[in-house]
Amino acid sequence: MASSPILHDVLIIGSGAAGLSLALRLPADLSVALVSKQRINEGNTYYAQGGISAVLHERDSIESHVTDTLIAGAGICNEAVVRLVVERGPENIQWLDGQGVAFTRFPNPATGPEFHLTREGGHSHRRVIHAADHTGKSVQTSLDEQVMQRPNIDIYENHLALDLITEGKLNRGGRRVLGAYIYDLEKNQVHTFGARFVVIATGGAGKVYLYTSNPDVATGDGIAMAWRAGCRVANMEFIQFHPTCLYHPLAKSFLITEAVRGEGGHLLLPSGERFMHRFDEREELAPRDIVARAIDHEMKRTGADHLLLDISHKPALFVREHFPTIYSECLKFGIDITREPIPVVPAAHYTCGGVVADSNAQTDIPGLYCIGEAAYTGLHGANRMASNSLLECLVYGQLAAENILRQRDSMPMPTDLPPWDESRVSDPNEEVMVSHNWDELRRFMWDYVGIVRSNRRLERAKRRIKMLKQEIREYYSDFRVTNDLLELRNLVDVADLIIRSARRRHESRGLHYNLDHPFTDDQLQKGPTILYPDNYCPRRY
Ligand code: FAD
Ligand code: SIN
Repeated sequence: MASSPILHDVLIIGSGAAGLSLALRLPADLSVALVSKQRINEGNTYYAQGGISAVLHERDSIESHVTDTLIAGAGICNEAVVRLVVERGPENIQWLDGQGVAFTRFPNPATGPEFHLTREGGHSHRRVIHAADHTGKSVQTSLDEQVMQRPNIDIYENHLALDLITEGKLNRGGRRVLGAYIYDLEKNQVHTFGARFVVIATGGAGKVYLYTSNPDVATGDGIAMAWRAGCRVANMEFIQFHPTCLYHPLAKSFLITEAVRGEGGHLLLPSGERFMHRFDEREELAPRDIVARAIDHEMKRTGADHLLLDISHKPALFVREHFPTIYSECLKFGIDITREPIPVVPAAHYTCGGVVADSNAQTDIPGLYCIGEAAYTGLHGANRMASNSLLECLVYGQLAAENILRQRDSMPMPTDLPPWDESRVSDPNEEVMVSHNWDELRRFMWDYVGIVRSNRRLERAKRRIKMLKQEIREYYSDFRVTNDLLELRNLVDVADLIIRSARRRHESRGLHYNLDHPFTDDQLQKGPTILYPDNYCPRRY
């Protein structure tokens, strides 16, 4: 028998920096469901290393952070959004400090301990506040502790949201969101969650690619769900490849933070020669798209399967103190970074595009919000500047909370939500199709829609994705859902959005580089790529 819907005022799907900061900013008299498809910790946030950018030094300025972000974004950031986020930076760092995040400090004999600020690519000042090289872990665990103490927040771990419930889908006349179907992975049962407000905070989609710095949960679920429900999605061609992930046959997706270059690390060819000066005057601290393409170019030119990142010329104590996580992780693979260079390769790292959200974090569907890496807000443009992402998570968590408070009396609790219908499906009998298609998708996305694209490669990818979508649609309608099938369905939808967006942009800009259109076309293409789903309806309140 179907269980009755689980009702909350606010349903937050995702427990990374975005979801947690929103949950903690909602008042105690609103009941909140915080849903996470694995343990509460598992998401991109936990693995963040470098830090969070904010104007915290007296010689830095809001203007300078805004300008650097606009330059990195290659002309298509929304300047008003950039300013909004940058201006709210310092108060958000203060808020995190108040939540118990132990940022790295150094002693100042005159004024007492001060925050240590590091540098990363694209920043013209030291403005990245951090907790050694494990900033994400410190942020995630401090905020986890806080939400666990709040009686109004119910945490649902190992619960995977599979689709949104909207008035549109139920043919009820209106368009607002009513809740979501959520698969309890331990009980193997789909529950109906109803809520007055639903928030997508599901993070990015790095798993679309064969090589990624992202953990397994980053399958773009929220972007795919929102698109299927009728939301616009923007700028999906701008996938950021991080230049330096550890290259070792036994190491799974381990990042070597850009702060290593910020603190003086050099990129080297296998011969030991530096090369970044040939690509950009900012050398190792050029924005990431430039560094990743330079590495890709040199690997292809020399036939090397990796390049090197060297910080061993710095004092060993300095290296161990600044990069304790990287030092110990590399040592596990026999690499002592205080004595020798680190083998590195680029990998898919960050999804700059996502669900279109306005500066209240609202999407096209009334009552539905999107925050964090899953959202397209206009902040990042064609290339995200390092450490602007955690900042965006915090600021948009705050903006969503403020807007939900303003709207709290105008959204009634939904009633009569239909249970998940499993009456026409049977147990899956061809799981090999699911695992095969996972591999195929990630490989052709890496080969055809990766760091360097071409018209022909994108055309090939388009043909492949069409076939995969068809197969998965049939499988989904015939068989009972599984975790792998649901994630694959989302990955395929997201890959399709990336390919469609990349095929629309007949130029190279920021992270999107196409050999057949190697130049930037400011006359015709200086704007975001916005995709409209068939069931799109402009929002009206
Ligand atoms: P996440 O932290 O990824 O959280 C997503 C949440 O959604 C998870 O809880 C997940 O379980 C849940 N979820 C997903 N799908 C579902 C579903 N269907 N149902 C239920 N739950 C679901 N940015 C910086 O600014 N500074 C850095 O130093 C930095 N370093 C990075 C290092 C690494 C290795 C990586 C991978 C990223 C880094 N980034 C950094 C980027 C930044 O960490 C992320 O963009 C940011 O943490 C995203 O936060 P989020 O809350 O949007 O998503
Ligand atoms: C890093 O530490 O290099 C990652 C920073 C980021 O992705 O913003």
